[in-house]
Amino acid sequence: MRVAVIGAGVIGCATALELAKRGAEVVLLERAVPGSEASSAAAGMLGAGAEIDEDDPEQIERLVRARDAYGPWIEELRGETGIDVGYRVSGILIVMTGDPVERERLTRIVALQRARGQRAELIDGVQARSIEPELSADVGACAYFPDDSQVDPPALLRALVASLAKKRNVSLRSGAVVERMLLEGGRCTGVALAAPPAAGQSNVVQADATVLAAGSWSSLLPGIEKELAPVRPARGQVVQLEERPPRLATPIVRGPAYAIPRGDGRVYCGSTVEFVGYRREITAGAVRDILDGTIRTIPSLAEASLSSTWMGFRPHAERPLVGRSSIPGLFWATGHYRSGIVLAKITADDIAQSIFASS
Ligand code: GLY
Repeated sequence: MRVAVIGAGVIGCATALELAKRGAEVVLLERAVPGSEASSAAAGMLGAGAEIDEDDPEQIERLVRARDAYGPWIEELRGETGIDVGYRVSGILIVMTGDPVERERLTRIVALQRARGQRAELIDGVQARSIEPELSADVGACAYFPDDSQVDPPALLRALVASLAKKRNVSLRSGAVVERMLLEGGRCTGVALAAPPAAGQSNVVQADATVLAAGSWSSLLPGIEKELAPVRPARGQVVQLEERPPRLATPIVRGPAYAIPRGDGRVYCGSTVEFVGYRREITAGAVRDILDGTIRTIPSLAEASLSSTWMGFRPHAERPLVGRSSIPGLFWATGHYRSGIVLAKITADDIAQSIFASS
């Protein structure tokens, strides 16, 4: 079984690794370098509360399963590569804003989690400050998910790529721009690259199965527009602060904003959600809003140094697009929007399973 995977972000890398472990010969095609887009820009919250757009019980169950798959996966990656990916069960506190719709949504999520035997609580400001003393005195009710965790996405990408590099049955090609899918007799039989990998080599990659994991670039591939639901880039800007010594210990979410302490003094503060096409910009207004929101919620961060800013394009779709497409031989693994990191491992499992089941 030969599989071409388009895109070496966290979804493509995790999928390639899972396929390789199950014995497939994998060609992983990346137009730039692995993890250079949304995957490395991501916050790395592994939560089943903070980022649910609707209180859909199926989605909550999937996120809990995805979060819980991380511990063993990270252990396996560490065993293979020796790389620490910053995985920590740090819990996540979500501050209830004054917005009644948001309060109701969080109340329902907590109830749904508890009904499934998950630990989740609605707590008042005093209880919240006993968990995270750096919270501002004006913070009132919060939703608390003590078993939610986090990972450091750039470190995770390094570990995935290091693990892939050890697999004899994986060929990772950076700088490989896919021009189109090969479609023969209604079946996808691989891809054509815009240029051959090296002089004299073919620009055609034949495959029994092809996985589209190109994130925000997925909808740009010609020939599949009618089959694939639209995937649009949703820009997210990030400000990284650094506290010495580290004080904030718990990831805090308040409305669209969040602060994720990495445990070593770095605090990842995000993020915007902007539909501005592929404009690679850090804007003054976004940095101001992120800092205002962060300092309002965690006043001590006013003393932290601003160490870095960056941005990424989340692949937005109505729902994650995972599984077989209507074209035999072609599989989707894209459109994960704000949940690509948490869903990576179970997406990889699902795709590998459906490819082997259909062979
Ligand atoms: N998962 C964090 C974000 O999308 O901003």
